[in-house]
Amino acid sequence: MAEQVLRVIGGEPLHGEVTVQGAKNSALPMMAATILCKGECVLHNVPRLTDVTAASRILNRLGCRCHIEDDTVTVAGDTISQYEIPDADMRQMRSSIMFLGPILGRMGACDLTMPGGCELGPRPIDLHLETMRRMGVSIEEEGSRIRCKANGLHGARIHLPFPSVGVSENVIMAATLAKGETVLTNAAREPEIIDLAAFLNRCGAKIYGAGESTVVVQGVEQLHPTAYTVMPDRIVAMTWLCAAAASGGSICVRGAHPRDMEACLSALESAGCRFGICPDRIFMDAARPVKAIADIRTMPHPGFPTDAQAILMALLATAQGMSVFEENIFESRYMHAGELLRMGANIRILGRTAIVRGVPKLHGASVTAQDLRGGAALAVAAVGAEGETVLHGLSHIDRGYADFAGVFNSLGGKVRRVLF
Ligand code: UD1
Repeated sequence: MAEQVLRVIGGEPLHGEVTVQGAKNSALPMMAATILCKGECVLHNVPRLTDVTAASRILNRLGCRCHIEDDTVTVAGDTISQYEIPDADMRQMRSSIMFLGPILGRMGACDLTMPGGCELGPRPIDLHLETMRRMGVSIEEEGSRIRCKANGLHGARIHLPFPSVGVSENVIMAATLAKGETVLTNAAREPEIIDLAAFLNRCGAKIYGAGESTVVVQGVEQLHPTAYTVMPDRIVAMTWLCAAAASGGSICVRGAHPRDMEACLSALESAGCRFGICPDRIFMDAARPVKAIADIRTMPHPGFPTDAQAILMALLATAQGMSVFEENIFESRYMHAGELLRMGANIRILGRTAIVRGVPKLHGASVTAQDLRGGAALAVAAVGAEGETVLHGLSHIDRGYADFAGVFNSLGGKVRRVLF
């Protein structure tokens, strides 16, 4: 069967303005959270992504009414009549685990299977299940099915061994309608958690301290619907900045929140890029060439985000000097490195460390995206490379970027999505 690929002709500096899309990692948990509200919620600035379509399909299968029009998603979540997520949906999208807390909160039961694949190495759900247990859920595993039941969720004191984003969100969502108070310590502090809590609080939830490591949730009887605008996607903003930098161009990223991107902007500044920062936009002029960065460690927020690691590596593949990455969040998150080698990069992987010796130029090649951000990284490399790159595996990129090729072209890039 014919497959769609991106053909990228590199070497042209990207220049111009782009408006950043809404954050996938905020929109997905928020869509799941609508299940907790009585009535119809409206979410604006939801990007058109295959993951959003997958979340909408799950909502509709559960008996909710979810409708997508342009970047607005309308969900009547309270018409939910099922509590089982089919295996095919669980496999399709890793974030399907975000439905666990809301379905339990609403229905008192949830049946699911392990979320899909192992794109970034093993992605266990043990902490999701353990925290739900602490809130009164009994869990039985029957073959591949995980059956969760609660006779009324109750608040609990929960300390996370690691500040997992998804687990923090599931606990917060489940706790909104639970009996009593939940105190979550060592919670993740990602901006998307603040966004989710702001949405839920607007629906009448009582969540205090989101964005800090201790979050307190006082359970309420019910939540009412609201309209809410999803925050901008900081990883997509970083992608456009890195693409402009890799091509030796300049860019204005509109609608971004630089306050949520300190670690990324500081890395690009170390690489020699120059910035003008306003609260809702970022101007950047690339360094030519960029400078290597000695020490990039991925960490929970506010540390350097694991989701930006591949994208920055693509840029630093042509930096002057040697850059060193340490990946501390996921086990197998260097799959893009092998593809970058095909484009002439010099990268050595030693366990969780990647050593990137900058080369003067990359060249076009046939490469394959093996995960979402790794795929975006290959496109970043391709716009700075000499000659044509053919990028396969677009289904990964479509999970997280709306109109990927269109944005490059609006900046003067030469990117075509064609049948191969
Ligand atoms: C979220 C983001 C993802 C980002 C990641 C880290 C969404 C939809 N996705 O994913 O883009 O890369 O945060 O910033 O928001 N872990 C366990 N047991 C569990 C759960 C997690 O061991 O039950 C481990 C994971 O394997 C991983 C680490 O915790 O090593 C961090 O994962 P987590 O923060 O949970 O990431 P996600 O919420 O899946």
